[in-house]
Order: sequence, then structure tokens, then C-alpha cells
Amino acid sequence: MRASLLIVDDETSILEFLSMLFESEGLAVATARSAAEAQRALAGKRFDLVLCDILMPDGNGLDLLKEIKSATPNTAVVMMTAFTSTKSAIEAMKLGAYDYVSKPFEVEELKLITQKALERVELADENVYLRRELEQKYTFNNIIGKSPRMQAIFALVERIARTTSTVLIHGESGTGKELIARAIHFASARASRRFLSINCGALPENLLESEMFGHERGAFTGAVREKKGLFQEADHGTLFLDEIGELTPQMQVKLLRALQQRVVRKVGGNQEEPIDVRVITATNQDLEGRLATGEFREDLYYRINVLPITLPPLRQRREDIPLLVDFFLEKYSRQMNLPARQISLEAMKLLESYDWPGNVRELENVIERSLALSHADTIGARDLPAQVLNHRRSHPDLIELPEEGLDLEAHLEEIRAQLMAQALDRTGGIQTQAAELVKMSFRSFRYYAKKAGLRAGDGE
Ligand SMILES: Nc1ncnc2c1ncn2[C@@H]1O[C@H](COP(=O)(O)OP(=O)(O)OP(=O)(O)O)[C@@H](O)[C@H]1O
Ligand SMILES: [Mg+2]
Repeated sequence: MRASLLIVDDETSILEFLSMLFESEGLAVATARSAAEAQRALAGKRFDLVLCDILMPDGNGLDLLKEIKSATPNTAVVMMTAFTSTKSAIEAMKLGAYDYVSKPFEVEELKLITQKALERVELADENVYLRRELEQKYTFNNIIGKSPRMQAIFALVERIARTTSTVLIHGESGTGKELIARAIHFASARASRRFLSINCGALPENLLESEMFGHERGAFTGAVREKKGLFQEADHGTLFLDEIGELTPQMQVKLLRALQQRVVRKVGGNQEEPIDVRVITATNQDLEGRLATGEFREDLYYRINVLPITLPPLRQRREDIPLLVDFFLEKYSRQMNLPARQISLEAMKLLESYDWPGNVRELENVIERSLALSHADTIGARDLPAQVLNHRRSHPDLIELPEEGLDLEAHLEEIRAQLMAQALDRTGGIQTQAAELVKMSFRSFRYYAKKAGLRAGDGE
């Protein structure tokens, strides 16, 4: 494809001359006589290179430069100055211009500069391409993850898909449990059959039983006709039982029977019907803890926990955050019919350091919301919701020197106290271990803990 060039200048003679020059060089050339015209041209099309006059009747070329750089960072911009104004030339370079030429220019010099700029654009595009490739590599059925833990899960999913054993997916809310369940189904030999799911915590016991196992006509008031249960609807397919920890003791018995005997009995029925269903279960509870209290049956637990998968919370795989952000930016820009949006470095840093109690679902919502509310081409820190911004204040590595300055010593004391308190939390209040965790001697740990009024446990 021919490289594209936009020339912005208010002097007709220069536009004509440069158009001819670069068309003969094989470029696709467009022209604009004002900043406004240039903006219109840039809105409709992406240019590889823009040659732009610094002085324009209706605006400043530097403003245009800023706009181009934020909308399409890979577009190279070469500024033209009517007189040797070093100040604005330096300003232009700071704002990301590739280079500048002073008028009147040497034709050969101009040709050389544009040629170099275009080579660079090609390289940058190549980088974007390579990054896309990389993203492909880190995508498994639309599940994103380059962290070693997610990569290990993708491998596990592929192995699990070849079996028909029962799976228990464990993970905090929003970590992608349902997504993984679907991935297992669609990677398995059952892919052409149905994947059905039910939330075990969303229905009262009797309704849940009839949903799962079906009912006979007249089994209860309102059962006007016979109904198949999900186990039968999902025959030869996969049934996903979400929030399995919510099952009542009675339903636990019934599910165990279905899994062990591979038969179901409709509510109000007396016939056992065979089933062939792969069951995948999920929970965000600590099921093992509930075994101890007797709330969850041990025999059922071992029956469903044949193949366990544990999805790590997002804060334990922060390297996945940038990929997920890109993925959701693209997904929602497309959905909202917006041009591709970027995200500022600062905003990305904030997203990477936030703790994400709602995991990937929360991140997805944050991106969707920011896209909907911001009109700029680049999402900045100001577009992020309060929970993400507030986090910055409590994080010293992201701190900025406030306008009015600060008391550095007091500030450092505060940071030390906060980190020591966390160390104590993590070691159950045992000072010797906490001291080790923050690489302090026990003596100075004890000294500073006392000074900061930190409470220690008994085990010094
Ligand atoms: N690794 C991932 N890559 C891309 N999207 C993801 C990923 N993990 C989760 N999501 C998206 O995040 C949202 C939540 O995922 P999902 O519903 O699977 O989570 P969950 O663990 O079942 O949550 P809950 O416990 O709240 O039901 C979905 O929109 C899902 O598409
Ligand atoms: Mg879910």
C-alpha cells in the first residue's frame, strides 16, 4: 500500500509544490489549508505522515500536533517553521514531532526527512502488529492471560477437556469461572451439544430440584405438564452448576446420587432415567472449610472435586492487567461504535496497582464506564472511578509531591508504620517474623513499632 501524507499549510503555492513533489515520490497526498480542514481530514482517515506548518490563520500547528499524537501516536509529524524559531521547534520535538524543517527548505533535505520518518512509521506499525500477535498467543477462547498461572490454567483446561470427569472451579467473584467452564465445554468432544448452566443459590430448594431433575405432571400445584430437567436437557453436553456451595443438605444428597448412579428421577416421578452429562461446578466459598462445619457433605465434595481448578484473583497476576485493558478497550469501542481509544500511561499505572476486589468483572466495568463517559481520544486518570483513584493516595510508590510540599521525614515515618503494620498482620503479630519480612533487625523493628504505637501479638 502507498504511504499516505497530509500537508497542512495556508499558502497555496507551497501546497501545490509539495503535492507535486511527493506525488512524484509515490505517496498518496492530501492537503489542508487550515487547522480546521486538517482536523476534518484526520478524522476521516489515518495518515502515515503529516507535514504541518507551525503558524496557521485559525490555530497553532503545535495544538494540531498534540491532537495527532494523542489520536494516532504512530503517525509521524514533521513541522515546518516559516522562520528559524528555535523555541517552537524545540517545543514541537517535545510534543512528539518527528523532526522540523525551516522555510525556505531544501528539497533534498525535506525528501530525506520524510523518507526517514516513513521508515520509522513502518517500524512502529510492525510493533503494533507484533503486539497483536503476542496478544493472540495469550488468548485462549477469548480468555486473556499471559501470567504463568493463567497459562498453566489454559494448559489444564485443554487436558481436562479430553476427559469427562467432574470439575470444581474455585475462585473469587469475577475471576472468570463461568468463562473457564464454557472453555472446557467448547474444547471438549461435547462441543456440538448444549452447555447449560444454573445458579444453585438463586432458587428455593423445591424449584431448584425441579429445574435440575424435572417434574411429572401434577407433581405439585402448577405442574400442569411434565417437564424435563437440565440434566436431561444437557444430555451428551455439559451442565454448569454455579455457586455449588449454596446447595441445601437435601439437594446435596440428590446431586450426589445423580453423579454416582448416573440417573435422575423427576419430582413426583418413580422412574429413574439414565443421564450422560459432564458436570462442572463452581464456587467462591471455602468448601473445605464448610466440610469441617458439616455444611457441605464430604462425599459430594470428593465426587465433584475430581479435577480442581483454582482461578487466581487479578491482584495476584497484575501482568495480565494491560492485556485485559486493551482487550476490553477494543471490545467496548467496537460495541459503542467509537474510534479506537488509547489509555494514558498514568491511567494504566493506576489500573495496574489497584487491588480489584471484583477482579476481571470489575476491570471490565471500569473500562466500559470510562469509554462511555470520556470524550477524549485518550482515557486519562481523571476518567477513572473514585475507587481506583483513591487507591493512589494510600500508595507511596505512586505519590506525587503536592503543590504545597510535604514534611518528608513525617511522611516516611508514616509509610514505615503502614508497612510494618501490614507485616505484623501477615505474620499474625509475631514481631520477629514481621521484622524479617521487612528486612529490619528485631531491635529496630521493636523500637519503631513502639514509637508508632503498633500492637504486637504475644509471640515476640
Ligand atoms: N481472563 C479473562 N479474559 C477475558 N475476560 C474475562 C477473563 N476473566 C473474566 N472475564 C470476563 O469477566 C466477567 C466475569 O467473568 P465470569 O462471569 O466468568 O466470572 P465468575 O468467576 O463466574 O464470577 P461470579 O463468581 O461473580 O459469578 C465476564 O464478562 C468475563 O467475560
Ligand atoms: Mg459466575
